[in-house]
Amino acid sequence: MAVQMKGKDILSIHDLSREEVRQILDTARVLKIKKLTGEVFQPLKGKTLGMIFQKASTRTRISFEVAMWQLGGYALYLNAADLQLRRGETIADTARVLSRYLDALMIRTYAHQDVVELAAYSDIPVINGLTDLLHPCQALSDLFTIEEKKGTLAGLKLVYVGDGNNMAHSLMYAGAKVGMHVTVCCPPNYMPDAEVTRLAREDAAASGAVIDIVHDPVSAVKDADIIYTDVWASMGQEEEHAKRVKIFAPYQVNRDLVEKAKPDVMIMHCLPAHRGEEITDEVLDDRRSIVFDQAENRLHVQKAILALII
Ligand code: CP
Ligand code: NVA
Repeated sequence: MAVQMKGKDILSIHDLSREEVRQILDTARVLKIKKLTGEVFQPLKGKTLGMIFQKASTRTRISFEVAMWQLGGYALYLNAADLQLRRGETIADTARVLSRYLDALMIRTYAHQDVVELAAYSDIPVINGLTDLLHPCQALSDLFTIEEKKGTLAGLKLVYVGDGNNMAHSLMYAGAKVGMHVTVCCPPNYMPDAEVTRLAREDAAASGAVIDIVHDPVSAVKDADIIYTDVWASMGQEEEHAKRVKIFAPYQVNRDLVEKAKPDVMIMHCLPAHRGEEITDEVLDDRRSIVFDQAENRLHVQKAILALII
């Protein structure tokens, strides 16, 4: 039975039901096949997506723009610095105005609360294209990629090695929803947010997933089906880079660490990667690395999201 998702905001995977996550993944599979077989599918003719960016982006911007185009619609890139937002127009007024022109909004920004506020005042669905707290579109795409490669999600073990950041949070929520165990292995002072951890564990209790936070990478990756990493200094933390590089050095995903995992472990990274920091060239370019499939699948999964919510 299809779940009705028209008008739904995609702010956090925690807010989605298991059925909604399943529907996004199943729709993405159908849309990926349509794309590969050249079948034109344009349910969004005449529809528009506004994309507000307060931070840089390669994958998110381009995959959303191409997604709208392929679905028959149109996407507008809105640099936040060029909007009246920068001059003090409120988020609430911006939301009300943009709702009169557009059919959906995507936003990439710093404070997660800003996205929540934008969604609260918008009459149109709002998609979180990354905040300091969460990156749901990436983690949903990652579920799709893992399922595509492994044929299943429940019972797998994903070990995220690095900073307890937006990516770690969304992977915890994602695993918890679908029954995939997620271990975050991070330095003691760079743990995931306590409230996100609590909510992820609540969802995990319902799905059978285990959400763990540990600090020793070697023991963490032992039974890993997937090793996932992300940059040590996220967007907005550039000034902490030098300090973080020292603290995170023992958490580098390199050949020694990968050898401690299962022989068929898959290597994942949301990209962009800082080669030689959180991951070595050798591992990123290894045959077990699926980072470019992850990047590609952003397109298919976001097409599914757009087709379902608009
Ligand atoms: N992974 C990801 O969101 O990439 P961009 O920052 O390039 O959008
Ligand atoms: N944690 C990273 C993810 C980039 C896609 C950041 O926020 O910069």
